[in-house]
Amino acid sequence: GRFTRNEIAKKIKAGEIAVNGSPVLSASAKVEAGTDKIFIDGREFIYSRFVYIMLNKPLGVVSASSDRNCKTVADIVDIEYKNRGVFPAGRLDKDSEGLIFLTDDGDFAHRILSPKKHVPKTYEVKINAPLTDGERRFIENGLVLDGKKLLPSEITFIAEENGFLYDVVINEGKYHQIKRMMSAAGKEVLSLKRVKIGGLALDPALPPGGWRLIADDELKQIIK
Ligand code: URA
Repeated sequence: GRFTRNEIAKKIKAGEIAVNGSPVLSASAKVEAGTDKIFIDGREFIYSRFVYIMLNKPLGVVSASSDRNCKTVADIVDIEYKNRGVFPAGRLDKDSEGLIFLTDDGDFAHRILSPKKHVPKTYEVKINAPLTDGERRFIENGLVLDGKKLLPSEITFIAEENGFLYDVVINEGKYHQIKRMMSAAGKEVLSLKRVKIGGLALDPALPPGGWRLIADDELKQIIK
């Protein structure tokens, strides 16, 4: 992803790629991923079959890998990952922010997104008016969207600050699900931030637009 095939061929000619300490002389040389040590321009190249990125999506950016008019989440990460074809495993509305995964591993994305897997997603949701206990229970247990009953959700009041902030955990990801859940109780969503997917929380060190690779042990926490 970091270089084109042509650039790599040139680097091989120039002796800028080494395997196990010796320059490679042919572009058809074979390497053993995970065993051989590959250096490009003196920097170790770590081969991995797939990449997994956590990104704090800023407002105004779309959850897609390309878009004609708008900046996408794939435009934010390094070009080497964009060139690998990473795509968002899940969606956040353009006016929502927070945790989104980018990957080139289709099976992983499927496991995160499949409604059968019930991977919980946690959001901080600010609404314009407080929920009564009855409204909260109604949203948590009784809602029908698109003609289907939603899986139970959990709503916890956090604080009142320029609106009413709740922690909301849902177990599926229907189109505009939280906005529609709140609207069913006559509430308007003022802001929406995803803070956790499965067992993995958004790294608090990542500002909006910040991203980093997901470590192997973190990957295991997502789906237990
Ligand atoms: N629910 C919504 O309504 N919007 C999002 O972006 C995510 C969940």
